[in-house]
Amino acid sequence: MTPSPLPSAHYWSMILLLIVLLQASFIQSAKIELNFMLGTPELDWEYPFKGWSYYIRAFNMMREQPRSEVGWGQWSKPNAPDNFNSVCGIHPMGFTCEDGTTTETSNCAGTYTEMEKCDYWVCGEEEKGGIRGSIEGGMGYWPGYTLEKSQVTWMVPGSTTANYEMFGGTFLNDRPQPCLNLGGAVRISNRLLVPNDFISFEGGANIDGFLGYMLQATPIGKRAATDTANYWTIIADSANFKGPVMYMSTWFWDSRLSWHPQSKNWASPDAALGYIARGFEGRISAMQSETHTDGSNNKFARTTEWGMPLDSDDLHSTLFTGHSRYPDDWLTALLDGIMDGTESDSAEDAKLKDAAMAARINVGCSSTDSLETKEAFLEFEGEGETFTIDGLGVTATDASDADIESQGCPVKYLLDKTKLNCSGPGNMCLASKFFTVGGERKATDDVPAAAQSSIPDFPIHRVDNRRATGPPAGPERQCFENPGPAAADSRMYCTRTNTKSWIGFKWYRFVDQPELTNVFASLPEGERETAKAYMQSRIEKLHALGKDVPWFDFPGGEDALPAAKVSIDESLLLNPPDGMEVGFVPIPITQRMRVRPTDCEVVVGSFAEEPEPLEDDYYDNFDEVYFGREQFECSGTGVDGMTYPGSIFGLPPDPTADRLNYEYVVPIPDLAVEDAVIVPVSNPVIALDDVEGVTASPTPATIGTKSPTPANDENPATDAPTNAVTASPTPATIGTKSPTPANDENPATDALTNADEEMEIDGAASSTSSASIFKVATVLAVVFGTILF
Ligand SMILES: *[C@@H]1O[C@H](CO)[C@@H](O)[C@H](O)[C@H]1NC(C)=O
Repeated sequence: MTPSPLPSAHYWSMILLLIVLLQASFIQSAKIELNFMLGTPELDWEYPFKGWSYYIRAFNMMREQPRSEVGWGQWSKPNAPDNFNSVCGIHPMGFTCEDGTTTETSNCAGTYTEMEKCDYWVCGEEEKGGIRGSIEGGMGYWPGYTLEKSQVTWMVPGSTTANYEMFGGTFLNDRPQPCLNLGGAVRISNRLLVPNDFISFEGGANIDGFLGYMLQATPIGKRAATDTANYWTIIADSANFKGPVMYMSTWFWDSRLSWHPQSKNWASPDAALGYIARGFEGRISAMQSETHTDGSNNKFARTTEWGMPLDSDDLHSTLFTGHSRYPDDWLTALLDGIMDGTESDSAEDAKLKDAAMAARINVGCSSTDSLETKEAFLEFEGEGETFTIDGLGVTATDASDADIESQGCPVKYLLDKTKLNCSGPGNMCLASKFFTVGGERKATDDVPAAAQSSIPDFPIHRVDNRRATGPPAGPERQCFENPGPAAADSRMYCTRTNTKSWIGFKWYRFVDQPELTNVFASLPEGERETAKAYMQSRIEKLHALGKDVPWFDFPGGEDALPAAKVSIDESLLLNPPDGMEVGFVPIPITQRMRVRPTDCEVVVGSFAEEPEPLEDDYYDNFDEVYFGREQFECSGTGVDGMTYPGSIFGLPPDPTADRLNYEYVVPIPDLAVEDAVIVPVSNPVIALDDVEGVTASPTPATIGTKSPTPANDENPATDAPTNAVTASPTPATIGTKSPTPANDENPATDALTNADEEMEIDGAASSTSSASIFKVATVLAVVFGTILF
C-alpha cells in the first residue's frame, strides 16, 4: 500500500518534532542521549492469526535510575482482509475536529448517511483506511510519564485506537483518562492487582527471569452466548501468577471507529493480527566532562550504568524465546466450556496448557548475519555531529536450528567477558560506562581518576505527575462511583509495590468495574442486565481456576528456559476478601511514589507505613507534569462544538442483530463535576502478609524463593488480629536502592526525540482528531519497534 497523502496537520507535527529533536540534541549540554542499537532476528510469523506468545526476559538492564526511555517488547497491529471496510475505517467527523471548516471536509460531519460522502484522506481510498489500532507492551523504563522508579516493569495496558486518540488503561501518567475512554484494560483476574503504572517484579536490584506473554483473541468478554467478537486478551505465565490479566472490550474500538452501522474494527470477528514488531527501542543517557579530554581533544563521558543478564550457560544472554503463534479458535470452545460451567480445569488437569501446547505453531527466524545491528552499539545523533560507540561486547548470535525449530527462535546474544564486567552481584554483565565524545569506548582503568570525577552527576530527576495518577478527577468519578465498589466491602485497600509506590485500590464486582461502565451503558437498556448477569456468572467460573492453573508454557517446559520464570511483585498478588472469593476484581484508584494514601482503610502487602517518606520539598522547583483532559472541539457542517464522536453503532452481542437498534449517543463528560473529597483515615486495619520470609527475612528477595505456594494470605479478616500490632516492615529487602536520585526528565523532549521514526512506521500518521501533537508524539515514542525492525 503506498503511503497516503497526509493532512496538513500531520506535517505540522513533524516540523515541531524536528525542532524539539534538534533542541534536545545539542552536544553543548552536559547531558546527552544515545540511541541503544541492538538487532533481533526477523521472525517468520505467517500472518494473519489470532494469537501469539513468547517468553520475555524481565531484568534490570539499567543499573541506576534510568533517565531515558528504553524498552524491549512488542507492538502488534491488526490485519484487514481485502474489502474489510464497506465504509470509512476512520470516523469522518474527527477530521472536522482537526481542520475546522474546509471544503474538503464539508461532507465529513452530520448523520452517518451524510458522512458516507466523506472522501477525505483514506476515506476516499479503496481500502478505506483498514483497521486502526495497536496493542503494545513489554519490559522497560519510561521515566517521562510513569512514576519515578529504578526497576524494570511490564507495560501491560498498552492498546491504542483511532490514531492514538485513545489508550487502553491510563497509559500515560500525565493526564486524566476520561471515563468515556475506559474499556481497553478490563481487569480479569481477582488475584492480581494490575496497576496503571505497570507490573513490577520480585528480585530487587537483581530481578531476572522470564515472563510468558500471550496476546490472544478470546471469548472472555462475551456479552451473550451469540457474541463472536474478538476480545484481545493478555495472558501471563510467571512463577507465581498464571492466567489472563486484562482484555480490550468492543467499546474500546467501537467508541471512536463505529460511526456507521456497517463499521468494522479490530473486535470484528474477521479481523486478526497482521503485524508484530518485537525488539529494542530507546536510549541511554550520558553525562560528559566539561574539562577533561583524551589526547585527541575528545571529552570524557559516562552513560547510566547498564548491563545484560547471563543465561544458565554462563555465556549468552537470551532476551526473547519460545515464539509461538496459534491457529484460530484453539481456545474458544475449551474456555467457553470452563466459563459456562460445562468443563473443568485444574493445575493437575492442565487442559488449557495442554491445548495451547498442542495448538502452538513454532515461529522460527532468520539468521542474525543479515542484521545491521548484530553488535550492540550506542549512537549519538546531534546537530552536525554523529558518532557511535561500539565494542560493547554484546553480539547477536544464532540459536541452533534444532532450538529454533523446537523452541521458537531464541533471541540470544553472546556476551564478551573481556569487554563486560560479569563479576558483580546478580547475574549481570555490566557494560563499560565510560567513553569519549567522538566515539570510543573506554575501560574504567583507561580513564584517569581526575577525568572520572570531572564528569558531573546526572541532574536530579523528578516527575510530579500526582494530579494525573488518581484518585479519579471529577468527570471520571461516574465510572468509579456508579455503580461503584462492592457493597460487601467497599473499603480502600493499600499496598506498597517493589517500585516504592503505594496503590490505593478497591474491590469491584467484575461487571461493575470502571473499565466496563461504557460497555453496558452503550447497550440498549433492555439488554443491559442480561448481559451483566451473563458476564458475571462466567467470570466467577473463570476465577475459580485461581492463579496457578497454567494457560501455556515454554516449549519443552520451564527447565528448558535459559533462566527461571520471573515472579511478579508479591504486593500485587492478592486474596479476595472473605465472602468475595470469586466475581470481584481489585481496581487501582490512586498510585503515588513513597506516600501512603491518607484514606487507606486496610493496608496489605509488606509495609504498614512508608519506610522512606518523601522530603517535604521533594517536588519544589519541579514543574508539574499535567496535561488536561482532552475535549474535542469540532466545527463544520452538522457539527456543533463538543459532539464528537456523536452517535456510534457498536458491534452488537448478536452479530446478526440490526445495528440501527444499537445506536448510542456518546455522552459528553460533565466537566463541572468536582473532585472527590478525600477523607483521611487515622487507624487503618494493618493486615500484612503472614508468610514467613516475606516480611521477616533480612536477605534480599530472590526469584523463586518467596512463597512458592499461594500462601500469602492477604485476607484482612483473618490476618488483622495477629498482624495488626506493630508490623515494623523490615523493608530494605524489597525494592531496590536507587544509586543516585539524580536525573532529569523532560517528557516533552524525551518523548519527542524518538518519535519521528515511528511516524513513518505507523504510516498511519495523521491524527483524525485534534489529539494534541504532544500526545501523538509521546505515544509514538513508546511504541516498540523503531528503526530496528
Ligand atoms: C566489576 O563490577 C564490580 C561490582 O559491580 C566492581 O566492584 C568491580 O570493580 C568491577 N570491575 C571492573 C574492572 O570495573
